Amino acid sequence: MAETNSAATIGVIGGSGFYSFLDDVTEITVETPYGAPSDSLFLGELAGRKVAFLPRHGREHRTPPHRINYRANLWALRSVGVRQVLGPCAVGGLVPEHGPGTLLVPDQLVDRTKSRTQTFFDGEPLPDGSVPNVVHMTFADPYCPAGRSVALGAARGRGWEPVDGGTMVVIEGPRFSTRAESRWHAAQGWSVVGMTGHPEAVLARELGLCYTSMALVTDLDAGAEAGEGVSHEEVLRVFGENVDRLREVLFDAVGALPKTADRDCLCTRAHDGWDLGIELP
Ligand code: ADE
Repeated sequence: MAETNSAATIGVIGGSGFYSFLDDVTEITVETPYGAPSDSLFLGELAGRKVAFLPRHGREHRTPPHRINYRANLWALRSVGVRQVLGPCAVGGLVPEHGPGTLLVPDQLVDRTKSRTQTFFDGEPLPDGSVPNVVHMTFADPYCPAGRSVALGAARGRGWEPVDGGTMVVIEGPRFSTRAESRWHAAQGWSVVGMTGHPEAVLARELGLCYTSMALVTDLDAGAEAGEGVSHEEVLRVFGENVDRLREVLFDAVGALPKTADRDCLCTRAHDGWDLGIELP
């Protein structure tokens, strides 16, 4: 779809702190072959680009990480023309150097989730009767290199010294990790822990979308702190303290992402050599 004909070309999947993100929004509901996304899509312009914002947990934050319909979310975004996705999320720091307020742009991912459907290519027929083929995506580098560099530049431009790279381990949740789990995650050399980064990243790749995670550390995880462990209040408070800054960084990042037609990253080659069996929206 050409940039000008699309309702949006850049998607932001974010937490509830981003409602005031877009001016002049149009709210649209989108149905997908996988059911309903977490909420409506909020379409608007930002930094001269057409953006679709999707509240990851729903606008009232009612959907826990393990119940999010990740497939519907990514499919819905692609169906309105989105080709690049920014995914800000809250994470816990696994080591003291990544304390609250750190912005980390991960370059690697470890999946420790248990119950989530992580592929569109599961052999289940779509409502139109087409059947997805078996497809094995290359996923060695789960994040878009162009998007990562844009996110890092935008953060630096706003005076935030982001951490360039690191591994995000994604747990099933909704509980936080035990101290033993957390210490084990840190001992593997992993940097931060979250609950939503998977399967969001891999489903974006399966749809040929660029996906960039922007992980805001809201707490030190249980193995790296001496108190009673992570609390949801702490996560919300620190996220709230940083949301204005993060919004500015997102604004600049949106403006700096390549035009759809100028994308030249590995994400655009995700489907090379594959017969998907289904028509992507
Ligand atoms: N999101 C924010 N903090 C987290 C933590 N410590 N573990 C998992 N997800 C989180």
